[in-house]
Amino acid sequence: MHFQWYPGHMTKAKRMMQENIKLIDLIIELVDARIPLSSRNPDIDELGKNKARLILLNKSDLAEEKWNTAWIEYFQEKGFFAVKVNSKKGGGMKSVQEVIQEACREKTERDKKRGILNRPVRAMVVGIPNVGKSTLINALAGKACAKTGNKPGVTKGKQWIRLNKNVELLDTPGILWPKFEDQTVGLRLAWIGSIKEELLQTEELAAGLTRFLAAHAPGTLAEKYGLEEAEDGFENLRGIAESRHCLLKGSELDLEKAARLLLDDFRNGRLGRVTLEFPQNV
Ligand code: G4P
Repeated sequence: MHFQWYPGHMTKAKRMMQENIKLIDLIIELVDARIPLSSRNPDIDELGKNKARLILLNKSDLAEEKWNTAWIEYFQEKGFFAVKVNSKKGGGMKSVQEVIQEACREKTERDKKRGILNRPVRAMVVGIPNVGKSTLINALAGKACAKTGNKPGVTKGKQWIRLNKNVELLDTPGILWPKFEDQTVGLRLAWIGSIKEELLQTEELAAGLTRFLAAHAPGTLAEKYGLEEAEDGFENLRGIAESRHCLLKGSELDLEKAARLLLDDFRNGRLGRVTLEFPQNV
């Protein structure tokens, strides 16, 4: 499969992040709970050297709870602070506030020794497009203040959102592009809708998803679409087209429509909570 790239955007975003990272103490990195590794850009480890690091497993409402727990443990074992959140509903925000303090304790102690008291921790939210950065900033800060720094012509210099007396957040998130040589990583990103599939490949993408679901979440397709799950992804697509009456002229099955329907159902959580990658496989 081939995915589209936007190298111009990428360079600009990276340059902005390099500038901003100098100003902050803590990096709050958002990943998608359904694909916690595939939704990371490894460049962040290099960019964020010497900074406190917090990983948030966002959209945890769309992933299976047992795997959310396993992924949190995975990241904690690697030395990150990690919390699962649902930015859309505001779930986990209190833990985030607490963990920010914990993650920056060393810095606060260092400040104290130097006689610097009450300097707030400065943090930046980073992540790949669509992972939920703006939603998180809104959830942490309250909708009204999150947007204040974004108006062209109004903003001079950096805008900081004061979350409380101890924490300030840069109001513009750092955008990282997903990175992969491994095509399964690209496939997972396309399944959750983070990279655009080419129009012609929608069916292939959806057929692949049905194969994954049949193997790792058996019963999901049968329950939702009343079909008999097959190993052949296109067989499953035909089943979806039949059950949902996706038809072309002359009663031929409209597989593209069925593919879109499936991807849409999956991305919006209508197939239930599904995790697409697992810690022991990585
Ligand atoms: P970005 O800044 O990183 O690009 O992402 P953004 O906040 O715009 O969020 C992208 C989409 O993900 C939005 O949906 C948003 O509502 C959704 N989202 C963010 N956090 C969560 C979460 O924890 N759980 C779930 N289920 N969804 C989340 P959208 O379809 O673009 O808009 P809308 O449906 O909210 O109108």
